[in-house]
Amino acid sequence: MFAARQTTQSLKRAFSTSAKAQSHVAVLGGIGQPLSLLLKLNPLVTKLSLYDIRLAAGVAADVDHCNTPSKCVGFGPEDGGLEKALEGAEVIIIPAGMPRKPGMTRDDLFNANASIVRDLAQAAAKVAPKARIGVIANPVNSTVPIVAEVFKAAGVYDPTRLFGVTTLDIVRASAFLSGIAGTHPKDTNVPVVGGHSGPTIVPLLSQLPAGKKVVEEGGETLAALVKRIQFGGDEVVKAKDGAGSATLSMAYAGADFTDSLLRAMNGEKNVKLCTYVESPLYKDQGVDFFSSPVSLTAEGTVGTIHPVGELHPTEQKLLEACLPDLKKNIAAGTAFIAKN
Ligand code: NAD
Ligand code: LMR
Repeated sequence: MFAARQTTQSLKRAFSTSAKAQSHVAVLGGIGQPLSLLLKLNPLVTKLSLYDIRLAAGVAADVDHCNTPSKCVGFGPEDGGLEKALEGAEVIIIPAGMPRKPGMTRDDLFNANASIVRDLAQAAAKVAPKARIGVIANPVNSTVPIVAEVFKAAGVYDPTRLFGVTTLDIVRASAFLSGIAGTHPKDTNVPVVGGHSGPTIVPLLSQLPAGKKVVEEGGETLAALVKRIQFGGDEVVKAKDGAGSATLSMAYAGADFTDSLLRAMNGEKNVKLCTYVESPLYKDQGVDFFSSPVSLTAEGTVGTIHPVGELHPTEQKLLEACLPDLKKNIAAGTAFIAKN
């Protein structure tokens, strides 16, 4: 669940054993540039396909000169470029779409991004229906159900192959808590459950010693830490002042997420991460997708979906506030595909 450590583990593995799986990763748009660079450096990637409506060929030509064994190829929308990028992909990462500007919520991106994600998902369902898909494009709480509905309509939906990438929330929780507690971020892995927007982001600080202390002390420090984890994205949007949202930390988080899938696919046991998946945990409350710790199978697909575990009463309250919002966000995604 911690990026730098995992990347180091991947490097050690790849240099000590040969990878079992051919790992062709396709990145569709968006945070693509720094994410693609990090993936080009990942020895578990053998082929990297970049697709964007602009500039993908140039980015790919640039990234491909990094002297790592994988090959990076870029495609634009002309001449069936999207299908070419997806051909043979085993992992598809979707960051394509509009980022926020100050004053916007992630839900304000719905109108712009729902159709972009739908169209990319339709191509993936046709060309690479067995790929594992990681959705980064916001609002993640809704775009993941959109992909699910597209795959259902195409008759190829496998819920174990669809993930919403919430890794940045875990990365932020680790960075912010370790800053307060004086711990090393690598030993400060905070499970973050729920979804990926404001109150749907539920950090379970009490589940590790450094966080438990902050939770038990309560007061302003706890309130400010929880708020910062839930609204860390806004902090970056505000600082970038109209020029977009998190891209570099997101690339780091997206590379870490992808690395988890690739490590599982390459024989590493017990790969576990918090990710937003179709989940039985709160289905009885009408919440069909939920992020909680998930153990991956040897195929890099969803295996065991773990419950949230023991909660402090303050975390129980956060969870109760999360569920109704999440339910609405999921319903919006599902309704979009029913209508469009
Ligand atoms: P950006 O504006 O820098 O890049 C968006 C890219 O998407 C552009 O290159 C654009 O050409 C491309 N694009 C647009 N329509 C496309 C299409 N139909 N097919 C392919 N590519 C297309 O934005 P960004 O900062 O990279 O953010 C991308 C998305 O990721 C946003 O929705 C943002 O909110 C989201 N995001 C999510 C997380 C997360 O934690 N899940 C974190 C950061 C950003
Ligand atoms: C983030 O958490 O940084 C992303 O979801 C982008 C955003 O809009 O905040």
